Amino acid sequence: MTDREPSTASEAEGGPSRGGRQDVSLDGMGSLRRTHRCGEVHAALVGEEVVVAGWVHGHRDHGGVIFADLRDRSGLVQVVFRPDSSPEVHRRADELRTEFVALARGRVVRREEGNVNAELPTGEVEIEASELRVLNSAVPPPFPIEEESGVDESIRLRHRIHDLRRPPLQRALELRSRLAQAFRRVLSDLDFLEIETPILAKATPEGARDFLVPSRMQPGDFYALPQSPQIMKQLFMVAGFDRYFQIARCFRDEDQRADRQLEFTQVDLEMSFVGVDDVLEILEEITCRACLEGAGVELPRPFPRVSWADAMARYGIDRPDTRIQLELVELTDLFAASDFRAFRAVVDGGGIVKCLPIQDAGDLSRGEIDRLEKFVRKELGAKGLAWIRVTEDGSWQSPIVKFLSDAERAAIEERCSTRPGSLVFFQADVPERANAILARLRVDLGERLGRVDGRTWDPLFVVDFPLFERGEDGVLTYMHMPFVAPMDEDLPLLQTEPEKVRATHYDVVLNGLELGSGSLRNHRADVQRRILELLGYEKGEMESRFGFLLNALEAGAPPHGGFAFGYDRTVMVLSGAESLRDVVAFPKTQRGQDLLMDAPSSVDQALLEELRLRVSRERKSS
Ligand code: AMO
Ligand code: AMP
Repeated sequence: MTDREPSTASEAEGGPSRGGRQDVSLDGMGSLRRTHRCGEVHAALVGEEVVVAGWVHGHRDHGGVIFADLRDRSGLVQVVFRPDSSPEVHRRADELRTEFVALARGRVVRREEGNVNAELPTGEVEIEASELRVLNSAVPPPFPIEEESGVDESIRLRHRIHDLRRPPLQRALELRSRLAQAFRRVLSDLDFLEIETPILAKATPEGARDFLVPSRMQPGDFYALPQSPQIMKQLFMVAGFDRYFQIARCFRDEDQRADRQLEFTQVDLEMSFVGVDDVLEILEEITCRACLEGAGVELPRPFPRVSWADAMARYGIDRPDTRIQLELVELTDLFAASDFRAFRAVVDGGGIVKCLPIQDAGDLSRGEIDRLEKFVRKELGAKGLAWIRVTEDGSWQSPIVKFLSDAERAAIEERCSTRPGSLVFFQADVPERANAILARLRVDLGERLGRVDGRTWDPLFVVDFPLFERGEDGVLTYMHMPFVAPMDEDLPLLQTEPEKVRATHYDVVLNGLELGSGSLRNHRADVQRRILELLGYEKGEMESRFGFLLNALEAGAPPHGGFAFGYDRTVMVLSGAESLRDVVAFPKTQRGQDLLMDAPSSVDQALLEELRLRVSRERKSS
């Protein structure tokens, strides 16, 4: 996946010159109104007069006859201007340039045999123009609007209007709209009420940094933009609005990646008097209907359920793509008393040893293995990439074979089912890194070697997450957020062994991407208090940050739970895009900038003073 930071330095400066083309006289629409979208002018209309309007996609002069392609959101249609049939209109057509806005009237005719364009839905016909109105001129576009041409992303983002005219973004935003309608329809059918929540809100812990908004009326105090409507939707449940949903904007100040934006959209929902199975059942229904009605995608049902522990053990990641037919194998116990010091030291330090066995990997060359090692060391922070290859005669080629005892060799052979042609990659590291590296290799090598089964869509639920994890500093933190309810049977462990408590959390994963996540929530104030206590909140802070939630739980809160789909991610996976920036109209770069509007930007000193704010840092240098 490429997620390159756009480089402003390398960007070709210039783009379209200011001022447009003043030398072209412009027409009004007059009484002419379009009768058809460009893409709708089919052979069935031959002989009829139509009026179309759009942008000049291309134009060429063939021995005096001018051909112009007019484009709107429905597609392209060819308009012909002949000097003999309509000299005045032909003269006007000669002034057309790329991206001019025009309205044309004419008769639909069949194209001559040799001129039929089978790739265009309108390619059998053309419009013989009898009238042309030039509605607006346009500066030359900074890049061609055709789909094929590759353009540096920073240029596309700066000239987003032109980029939005191109087919990929036209299709993506259309899909966004259709999918939103489908979600609304499905959720309304299932009796969910659409209710809005405030954008100027109070910090909610979803694990990211908050965006703050200074209050003018309460100088020195700040609103926080919601990271999600989490607490608000819980309050709706307490207030009796069983079954809420919202297509909600969320804001998180976190590092940007291909699948993360500073602001994004969730299809957020919550329901009362439910258990995990009830929510999963309805989620499967919503996911399948929305994908089918919004995108024409039929997901296979029922969604398999994979436990978090199983996903981590077999795939090294909590959002596996199970179409890839490779699985990891655990070897930690084998190296606990090994003479291979590099691995044993890792195990002694609390780390793990796991491996990725691949059968019939003969066509992976030594050079490729060396490049892989360099890649995981440099990009993923690996300590190395040990490997074993079983040659045709059954002997082992490997940089580590000399360190292994016969018993270790036999155990590896057995656990990895090695045979001639097998290749095994090893990682010894802290669990997070070892798993992350092997998970990445699993996907890359699975795709490279064609170990992917034929299913287009691979939806699944991941369930049984732990409630807590230990941070790098050893401190207990929540795995998702502090409001997730423990499984009922694990409640006693909150007093004794909190790390063993399993959460009622669940994720929906599609093709290796986390589409969304949810859980049952703590509806009992005592359980919520205990969890906040375990997370290290003192009583005072607990009340000031979460008092309104705790009070609500004490006001008669029903058992409740819910979910939020990452809407942009859903569009991304359904459209096959590789970055959220390709499915969001006006996205931010990896540095959090909007290159079109040039945001963020400085504000007037007077405004800062009104807000009683002083900027102490150096102004940005660029
Ligand atoms: P969570 O934090 O898992 O859960 O978010 C739900 C889904 O939102 C999407 N998502 C994002 N999409 C784009 N850019 C981001 N920065 C980003 N962050 C998250 C993901 C994710 O699965 N309140 C809970 C939901 C609940 O429990 O009901 C929540 O926000 O697809
Ligand atoms: P060394 O003894 O450091 O030369 O390592 C021998 C082989 O083991 C090399 O191929 C290293 O890439 C690999 N290796 C070393 N440490 C690790 C580790 N922690 N995990 C995986 N492979 C490793």
